[in-house]
Amino acid sequence: MKIGILKETQKGERRVAISPNIVKQLIDKEFEVIVEEDAGTSSSFKDSNYLKAGAIVEKRGVVFKEADVLVKINPFDEDDLKLVNKGQILMSQLFHKSHPELIEAISKTGASAFSMDAIPRISRAQDMDVLSSQNNLAGYKAVIRGAYEMTKIFPLMMTAAGTISPARVLVYGVGVAGLQAIATAKRLGAIVEATDIRPETKEQTESLGAKFISVDHNGEETSEKGYAKVASEDYARRQQEAVNKSLFEADLVITTAMVPGRKAPVLITKEQVDQMKNGAVIIDLAAAQGGNCALSKMNKEVIRNGVKIIGTTISPESVSTNASELFAKNMYNFIMHLTEGNQFEWDFDEEITDETLIVHNGIIRKNGKTN
Ligand code: NAI
Repeated sequence: MKIGILKETQKGERRVAISPNIVKQLIDKEFEVIVEEDAGTSSSFKDSNYLKAGAIVEKRGVVFKEADVLVKINPFDEDDLKLVNKGQILMSQLFHKSHPELIEAISKTGASAFSMDAIPRISRAQDMDVLSSQNNLAGYKAVIRGAYEMTKIFPLMMTAAGTISPARVLVYGVGVAGLQAIATAKRLGAIVEATDIRPETKEQTESLGAKFISVDHNGEETSEKGYAKVASEDYARRQQEAVNKSLFEADLVITTAMVPGRKAPVLITKEQVDQMKNGAVIIDLAAAQGGNCALSKMNKEVIRNGVKIIGTTISPESVSTNASELFAKNMYNFIMHLTEGNQFEWDFDEEITDETLIVHNGIIRKNGKTN
């Protein structure tokens, strides 16, 4: 079984799906590996590192022609699909629920496709979960970006010229990214507070030494199967009341709140921004889904009333070496899960296979259909 690693073509992407150390592990398991020239360069992995790990390095066309399994991070696009052959197995993030046309196009090639972002959030799949491994880095990066944009430092500092009080950081959404943002801001010495609609995040927040801002649920069911539900207007009002004091005192606000398959909830209104401190910074990681701040604009910096609002996405490209290493380990664990010896075992009754296999030999499976 030959695994082909493709160079990412999406603008701004710096990661690669499989790093040289994982190539070595795959070869130890008797897979063959073929890598597109320069695939890892932007993640600091040279072609020579892949060669040393035991892979063959080839031009793009050859990888498409010779590989049994083609791996990428970003969804296969139109140009890729022109080179895909019947019977090949594609593995990448597909975000299939929002890209039915891509699934249709894959099915026409006669290939099979697994979607890495569809890995179920169950304990035994944790080591394959690319959303977690990548969002964790995004939470870290959001704090670093905030530190760069702020006009204040994070820690308490006592100097001969006076004492600097610690920065106050507020995190909305204590999922994977939010938890890492809390941990990172704490490590840098800030006073950190956080809020989330799922009550179980209180304990997780406190275990990191941050303060949790509880909102009175008033009997409302706010989560389902471990994920947040869309909050009622009444909840949103109570949330504002509970959070406002901390929001108006914050130097840095990081928002990560998401509801799967829905637009991101607006948690900070224009009126709230108007009451924030001059010089405060909001890093809105939900901007690609509409934003948690009403004023956020994707990939733009908006300044209102002295508050800088940066709409960005959860994208760990800027730490591409670590992001690729983690993605690669997830991919390795996923491949190990799906194969026996070095051959694929198609067990459709097994939950991880069932949820991630979107197209099988050109046929769109039920989870790949949007209606
Ligand atoms: P996400 O990216 O879907 O959302 C981020 C956070 O925003 C969540 O904590 C959510 O509760 C919160 N949120 C949504 N609406 C909100 C609102 N109106 N106000 C305040 N907060 C709001 O979350 P992520 O990081 O994907 O994690 C989702 C769930 O999956 C969590 O329960 C997490 O513990 C679980 N998980 C399980 C894994 C596993 O067992 N393999 C791996 C990773 C996550």
